[in-house]
Amino acid sequence: MGRIVYIRGQFVPEQDARISLFDRGFLFGDAVYEVTAVINGRMIDNDLHLDRLERSLKELAIPQTFSRADIAMVQAELIARNALQNGTVYLQVSRGDADRDFFYSDTLAPCLVGFTQQKMLTGTKAQQHGIAVDLVDDPRWQRRDIKTVMLLGQVMAKQAARSGGFDDVWMVENGQVTEGASSTAHIITTKGRILTRPASQATLPGCTQRAIARLCAAEGLEIEERVFTPAEAQGAAEAFQTSASSLVTPVVRIGSQVIADGKPGAMTRKLQALYLEMAGVPV
Ligand code: PDD
Repeated sequence: MGRIVYIRGQFVPEQDARISLFDRGFLFGDAVYEVTAVINGRMIDNDLHLDRLERSLKELAIPQTFSRADIAMVQAELIARNALQNGTVYLQVSRGDADRDFFYSDTLAPCLVGFTQQKMLTGTKAQQHGIAVDLVDDPRWQRRDIKTVMLLGQVMAKQAARSGGFDDVWMVENGQVTEGASSTAHIITTKGRILTRPASQATLPGCTQRAIARLCAAEGLEIEERVFTPAEAQGAAEAFQTSASSLVTPVVRIGSQVIADGKPGAMTRKLQALYLEMAGVPV
C-alpha cells in the first residue's frame, strides 16, 4: 500500500496526488522545503525547522498563508496516517502556479505539500564507522541560507562523489569549506576546538547544528564559529557532519586524506550520544 501524502489542503493516496504543470516550484525552482527527522514516532528539532521555513518564505517574499500550528498539524497527521516510526517528514511550499513568467504576482496562492519517508536514522553503518567525503568547488548560487528546492548543484556533486568511491561531498569556496552537499560540516582541531562555519549567506543554517550547539553549551563545551580550509579539515583530529537525515555522522576520510587513525573520534562519539539522548534514544 502506498503512502498518504498531503497536497493543497488534502490528504490523499500518493498515486492520486496531482501538482499543476505550471507550479513555479516545478518551472523555476521557486519553492522552499524542510526535512524533519522522526525517531520513534517523534519529530526532532521541529521548532527549529519551522522557524527556518518561515525565514525561507520571508526571504523569497512567498506569503505564509498557513499558520505554524496548521503546518505542525499536517506533519503530525502525515506521521499518524502513515504510522511512521522512523524516517523523515518533508514539507515543500512553492509560490503557486501561474502561466510561465519570470515576474510573479503577489496574489498567487502558495502550494503546500508534504510526505513521509521511512528510513532508519539511528545506528546506521555511516554513524558507526564514519564516511569518506570528497572535496569539490561549491557550484551553487549565492543565497544558500535559503532552503530552496534548487538542488541540482548538490545532486551533481553527490553523484560524482559516489562515482569516485566517496560516500558524500564537502564543498569549498574561496579556499574555505562551505558545507556538505546536504549537511553542515564540522571539524575538531588537534587542540580540541570544535569548529563550524559562522552563519552567512554562503551556507544553510543547520537545525541539527543549532541543536548540537545548545547541547554543547549545556555541557560546558564550546563550538567556535569560524571558517576553515580544506587543509585544516584534512589535518583535523576529528571531523563530522550533521543533518536531519544523518544526525551526527563521523567523517573519517576527506579527499585522499584519512582523518587521524581513520576511526570516529571520541568527541564525535560524545556528540552523537548527546544528540541521541536529547532525541530520547537509549544509547
Ligand atoms: N539537508 N546544508 C545543506 C546544504 C543541507 O541541505 C542540509 C540539510 C543541511 C543541514 O541542515 P539540517 O541540520 O537542518 O538538516 C546543511 C536536508 C536533510 C535535505 O536536503 O535532505
